[in-house]
Amino acid sequence: MTDTLDFLHTTRASYDAIADDYSSLFRDELGTKPLDRALVTAFAELVLADGGGPVADVGCGTGRVTGYLHGLGVDVFGIDLSPQMLAAARRDHPDLRFDEGSMLGLDLADGDLGGLLAWYSTIHVPDEQLPLVFAEFFRVLRPGGHILLGFQVGDDVLRRDEAFGKDIALDFRRRRPERVAELLKAAGLAMLARTVRETDTEGPFPEKTPQAFLLARKPTVSGGRQDGDTG
Ligand SMILES: C[S@@+](CC[C@H](N)C(=O)[O-])C[C@H]1O[C@@H](n2cnc3c(N)ncnc32)[C@H](O)[C@@H]1O
Repeated sequence: MTDTLDFLHTTRASYDAIADDYSSLFRDELGTKPLDRALVTAFAELVLADGGGPVADVGCGTGRVTGYLHGLGVDVFGIDLSPQMLAAARRDHPDLRFDEGSMLGLDLADGDLGGLLAWYSTIHVPDEQLPLVFAEFFRVLRPGGHILLGFQVGDDVLRRDEAFGKDIALDFRRRRPERVAELLKAAGLAMLARTVRETDTEGPFPEKTPQAFLLARKPTVSGGRQDGDTG
């Protein structure tokens, strides 16, 4: 438990330190990544076709993707660990709701959500905590609810102790999509899509790794055959 608290503390403090810089730098990033945007848009369409939400953007940061989903007509709110990231989110998106909280224990009732987005936010969760996080995601989704994850592909952990000239202590955990998909399935979710986009080295937001986007759904019946299963 000490490790868990340490991880939450350092992650919160690090994002608190860089919130305004993060907001300025990444505000328009999604607009430069058409494939990423397509995945988020597809997620929104699936949620809208299934009643429209509510959707929680878990680890919403400064709310840039929360705002994008809202613009598509999704009933969405944000949750984040960092008060300063949330302050930036509320400033940038004054019409939207942003709550402080942790994905290790969401302040939501069972089945509250029609959708859940975790866009580059599970990347800071240690491997040993990931099953707990996915069990929590499963719990708060209603049957039929959709989930979309975005994260960097790889096997290593990038440690950063500086960003935007500020002292931070952040681990960026790159992961194999097939391994993460197995964990989502172990939590009870049904995989709908596994997309890997190659490394964007030339755009305005160059990357060091490929990017993974996993779309899954909470089954509407438990065990055995799942709804929509025609095979
Ligand atoms: C790389 S940023 C991504 C923010 C946003 N999703 C985006 O794409 O701009 C990671 C965010 O996840 C949040 N975060 C990390 N661990 C968290 C946790 N256990 N619970 C909730 N939020 C968390 C951080 O505070 C930070 O705002």
